Amino acid sequence: MTNKQLQKLLKDMSLDEKIGQLTQLAGSMYGSDAIVTGLLDMFSINDKALEMSGSVLSVIGAEAIKKLQDENMAKQPHHIPQIFMYDVINGYQTIYPVPLGQGATFNPDTVEKLAHMSAVESAAAGIHVTFSPMVDLVRDARWGRVMESTGEDPYLNGLLGAAMVKGYQGDDVKAKGNVAACVKHFAGYGGAEAGRDYDNVELSERTLREDYLAAYEACIKAGAKLVMTSFNTLNRVPSTGNKWLMKKVLREEMGFDGVLISDYGAVKEMINHGYSRDEKQAAEQSMKAGLDMEMMSTAYISHLKELVDEGTISMDMIDEAVMRLLVLKNDLGLFENPYKDGDPKEEKKLILCKKHRELARKAAAESFVLLKNEDNILPLADAKGASVAFIGPYADEKQIHGSWSFPNDYNTFVSVKEGILGNVTTAKTTFKQGCYRLDHNKKLKDGSMFEVNETKKEKMLNDAIAAAKKAKTVVMCLGEHFMQTGEATSRTDLNVSPEQIELLRKVREVNPNIVTLVFAGRPLEMDVIDELSKAVIYCWFPGTEGGNAVADVLYGKCEPGGRLPMSFSHKAEQLPNYYSRFRSGRPNNGTLDQGFVMGYIDQADLFKYPFGYGMGYSSFEYSNVTLDKSSITRKDTITATVTIKNTGDRVSTETVQLYIQDLFGNVVRPRRLLKGIKKVTLKPGKKTKVSFEITDDMLKFWDIDMNYASEDGDFRVYIGPDSLTENCAYFNLHQ
Ligand code: BGC
Repeated sequence: MTNKQLQKLLKDMSLDEKIGQLTQLAGSMYGSDAIVTGLLDMFSINDKALEMSGSVLSVIGAEAIKKLQDENMAKQPHHIPQIFMYDVINGYQTIYPVPLGQGATFNPDTVEKLAHMSAVESAAAGIHVTFSPMVDLVRDARWGRVMESTGEDPYLNGLLGAAMVKGYQGDDVKAKGNVAACVKHFAGYGGAEAGRDYDNVELSERTLREDYLAAYEACIKAGAKLVMTSFNTLNRVPSTGNKWLMKKVLREEMGFDGVLISDYGAVKEMINHGYSRDEKQAAEQSMKAGLDMEMMSTAYISHLKELVDEGTISMDMIDEAVMRLLVLKNDLGLFENPYKDGDPKEEKKLILCKKHRELARKAAAESFVLLKNEDNILPLADAKGASVAFIGPYADEKQIHGSWSFPNDYNTFVSVKEGILGNVTTAKTTFKQGCYRLDHNKKLKDGSMFEVNETKKEKMLNDAIAAAKKAKTVVMCLGEHFMQTGEATSRTDLNVSPEQIELLRKVREVNPNIVTLVFAGRPLEMDVIDELSKAVIYCWFPGTEGGNAVADVLYGKCEPGGRLPMSFSHKAEQLPNYYSRFRSGRPNNGTLDQGFVMGYIDQADLFKYPFGYGMGYSSFEYSNVTLDKSSITRKDTITATVTIKNTGDRVSTETVQLYIQDLFGNVVRPRRLLKGIKKVTLKPGKKTKVSFEITDDMLKFWDIDMNYASEDGDFRVYIGPDSLTENCAYFNLHQ
């Protein structure tokens, strides 16, 4: 449609139709014949409202979506197509690593390819919009949703979030295989107090802008078509009714002109927050704050008309929001083709196709982080005489995805056992469960029961110990349950279950050659696992091809390629914790009993493993950092260079990281900030120069007067393998 045609359509629409466009309801509210189901009572709206709604969430499959689209379009006075949205978070049916695992790749190319793959699959299944990327900055692993983020760093989150947007939307969102991206959750949701989901977020404006908003902005610059609000209150105002946040920051400053949608029920939840007295006021506050579309509550549909009639909300305001929805539908080409790419045949062909599975396998290996490799126990040899016992609840488990994956068929997943049996030809292998993922019967957050057979427990343990005794090497496969990750899964205890630790201890008593794989959606406490294992690989939740990727990495077909996108603390009690914290007036040198210094009297180190840390199967040597200038003005750039050498005996990829520290400021500056990443692959014995260009933009911050600017002074440039590197050089910035 031309802009003129869109304007005409808007003019022709009744107020009821317009308000309908601003409402999104779940597919479960439509019966198979688009009949209203019981859930509707809860929302007290009628059939008419359902038919008028502008969007549906969580219906999948080309056929089901086409049917619903046809039925609803036929009923709507102007036959406006509905827009179908879904949480395609880390793959549609070919599931790839959870976002935190993708963060660990430190690789925007990989992340973009993965997003594109999921766009292709979900578009063929009829989806128009994905509720991704989630770029909430996360510094507290107690929050279950850290799994949905790419980590603790504004630069990394922005880089990878923008890569996802490009991967989903391509150059033209209308083109085949693309879906529109919805950046979420705006804003600051990751800052929930003490990691409690849905809790208040209290951030200074400087911290909000400098740390939290950067990644959303990067995604908006990359062209994201939608933004979703967050559930939380931000500095005491719910995001969904926060005019300053949405109108001033998002629209005016960031220039976002796409559709702003609420999170699930978030408009109505403003009543629970104590911000709105009732639904009517919630509708008024959200509309006035700039929210276009309400997801899964019905304040708009029930009250906007009344608010317009009494003059509280202007028709212009409604028109502006409706127009954004119409423009989005038009951008997706829905007026010409309301099904977009939805096609049952294509859907069947593309889902889990060879190309997608190969990509998922490679990405999983690239996300695995090797935390320890004592005696070079890894890679294992697939050789005669080698024997390995794979022990633990993840030794043959197919649920190796995060909680935002909804596979149609678990048979498509490759467990560790299947991956090993399919790829290891000569070594002798055995597989024993040893114990359950969780210790007791437990109701999970989706309402299902995790069941434990108490009488089987002892035999499981004994079998595992017997297998460990016989094998030369043991690979322990441990982790949290995938339902302990994602929304509504905040934890105070960041350990794998006690029985898994007990299993590890018992195995260790009979065999010290232990490699431990950890499957998890967050940084867990790793002290005990580290102490009892010779090697540790953090596998996150790797997805469909997880077992094959484990085989590839364990047996050295490829390296574990990941680096930590979140700092790992020793204990949950240290959280929140992150590498870019501020310097203290009483610095801590990392030992105990220093007296009156910053930190704890019972925990010397700040981190168990620092941000950016991870090893390959080789080793690298870094030369000193050199700068081509030691003094610059704002117009200049500096080239910072190191030479790195592969000092090991195999081809390996190093993730070279650039950090900058502003030594003094009119407000104190973080210890350092990540400003560049380069992945470099070298053959054994080879060396190469790696350079980064430093520009004024990298030196800017929100200064004492809340200007975003750099300040004259001295800077330290670090280049090294992780956020604790001391390899640095200095420069000065002046007028
Ligand atoms: C989550 C969002 C998600 C939405 C739709 C909410 O509960 O917070 O991240 O996109 O549901 O499923």
